[in-house]
Amino acid sequence: MTQGNRIVVILGSIREGRINDRVAAWVAGQLSMHGFAPEILDPADPDLLHVQIGDQAAVARLRQRMAGADGFVIVTPEYNHAEPGTLKTLIDSVTAEWWARPVGLIGYGGISGGLRAIEALRVILAELHTVTIRDTLSFASPWRRFDAAGRITDPDDAAAAEAAMAVFAHRLRWWADALADARVARPYDRPDDEDADGHEDDGEGGGTGGARSAAGAGGA
Ligand SMILES: Cc1cc2nc3c(=O)[nH]c(=O)nc-3n(C[C@H](O)[C@H](O)[C@H](O)COP(=O)(O)O)c2cc1C
Repeated sequence: MTQGNRIVVILGSIREGRINDRVAAWVAGQLSMHGFAPEILDPADPDLLHVQIGDQAAVARLRQRMAGADGFVIVTPEYNHAEPGTLKTLIDSVTAEWWARPVGLIGYGGISGGLRAIEALRVILAELHTVTIRDTLSFASPWRRFDAAGRITDPDDAAAAEAAMAVFAHRLRWWADALADARVARPYDRPDDEDADGHEDDGEGGGTGGARSAAGAGGA
């Protein structure tokens, strides 16, 4: 069995003074404790920032950082009931790097704890051929919970978060290993009706989209 250890932890916020670093530091530490090899991918990294304006050199660097990962964990705030626009742009900037990978979702925010951002991301990530992990972590008012080094200050709060992380990591482990095996056994290739960028033919101009839609409706 293959071990799918390489997990890229993607931050959602590039805001100055963001709290994202603290939450992501805690998440990366926890993933290490559960046997994964986490790597932080920060959209505010100067090497990646110009992904936001479609700079192709920056997009190539982003692809390189994501290539060959066994899975992803997105740690994101909620902005107006969804993920930040910067995160959406980053997600939209790559295609095949996502395919057949598990994605764990960890949110934070006001009283909603980022849950609506998490659920919004599931729809987007399904389009990119990922499997989102059912179990999530959610932090309401993280500024009251995390210190500057990414530690959860209250012991009871820390214990509860670690228990939730144990479940999350258990599920991520199953999917990361299972999909690592599956990709070796059978490469996740492109069906005939996808173009080189991984975008499905929309059926206009006599393509196969109509037939595919009909089959999709029948199989739902
Ligand atoms: C423009 C904006 C919209 C926000 N909308 C929500 C929201 O809909 N729900 C929520 O729980 N928190 C919301 N918040 C609170 C943020 O999730 C919170 O400030 C968080 O710390 C932002 O993450 P960051 O500090 O890493 O950038 C919003 C914050 C901003 C700046």
